[in-house]
Amino acid sequence: MKAVECIVKGKGDIGPYHQDCLASGICGSHINKTDFIQALSARIRALQWNPYSRRPLISDIRNDCLIVQDGIELCCLSKALGKSWIKVAMPEKVLAKWLARGTGDLDNVVARSLRKSFYNPIDHPAYRKAKIARRDSIRLDRIRQFLGPIGPGLCGLDIGCNMGYTSHHLQRQSFRMTGIDYDANHLAVAKALDATYGLDVRFQNCYFRQFQADQPFDIVVALTVLYHMFFRQEEQNIPECGRMDKIGALAKLDAMTRHALIWESGPDPQLEIDFIRSNSGLSDYYSLGPTQGTGKKRQLGVFLRPDTSFSDYLKKRHASNFAGRWDGGS
Ligand SMILES: C[S@@+](CC[C@H](N)C(=O)[O-])C[C@H]1O[C@@H](n2cnc3c(N)ncnc32)[C@H](O)[C@@H]1O
Repeated sequence: MKAVECIVKGKGDIGPYHQDCLASGICGSHINKTDFIQALSARIRALQWNPYSRRPLISDIRNDCLIVQDGIELCCLSKALGKSWIKVAMPEKVLAKWLARGTGDLDNVVARSLRKSFYNPIDHPAYRKAKIARRDSIRLDRIRQFLGPIGPGLCGLDIGCNMGYTSHHLQRQSFRMTGIDYDANHLAVAKALDATYGLDVRFQNCYFRQFQADQPFDIVVALTVLYHMFFRQEEQNIPECGRMDKIGALAKLDAMTRHALIWESGPDPQLEIDFIRSNSGLSDYYSLGPTQGTGKKRQLGVFLRPDTSFSDYLKKRHASNFAGRWDGGS
């Protein structure tokens, strides 16, 4: 996706995609990076001239993931051009599987709570026209591109998961996910979507300060929530868990994060970056670029522990891209 976006926008680095293709055998080692980029660019430009001549072909649905047999480049191109839905071709038995993903639980939750809109998109045709606060999935694309093909065997925690959008997507990438949010209405939607998607994210209705876990998580995701936790809720006296100042909350976050904290800021990114880097072991910071919240400017990035095999892997993966985006020491 990122590679297609680079071609469409004429900027960015296709290197990590070339590496993934080499590693997975999609392209042979005799194809160097320059030839690879040239061939890919030619195919994408040809599609741009005549994008919808042939619909992508879906051959199966596995664990709620559509398996694209042919036309993945057209899928990515459509997305890079800002489309959130496209027409595809699929055999009848696959269509039957797709339509069998029921929305009964979700319909009940929506009716009970008189909900008129959602924070994130719902990946089901019945909710294609629903009112959505954050429609784009740029954050997921960047996170996925940054992490690469890791996922199986790793676990993740999504703090302030709302309706579970990021948790569901990371579970599709094979992370074992836990999502927490203090808002029971949002969590009801998240749990109903587990049923629709056939996923099993463990959702828990609690404040971060109340949350207990036996083991740290390989990755922790905290998108537009730490600002609330550290700088807005600090003085709140939450009955079940008493008061915890922002240093205590960050210490707990630090202890729960084994490798990486994937983060999106509130209105003052630098305040949060400085606070996290100077008061926790997550002192390396890599920017994934600016984002738009609900109409507001935000910053997306990743905090890592220095000198671990995990951060070394990520640094190597993005070696050509790191200049100017990596802040690895105070
Ligand atoms: C702005 S929304 C972001 C939702 C989601 N992280 C995303 O970016 O798509 C913030 C969410 O964090 C939740 N939240 C805020 N403070 C929290 C806390 N201390 N513990 C758990 N959830 C919290 C809110 O209920 C809300 O669903």
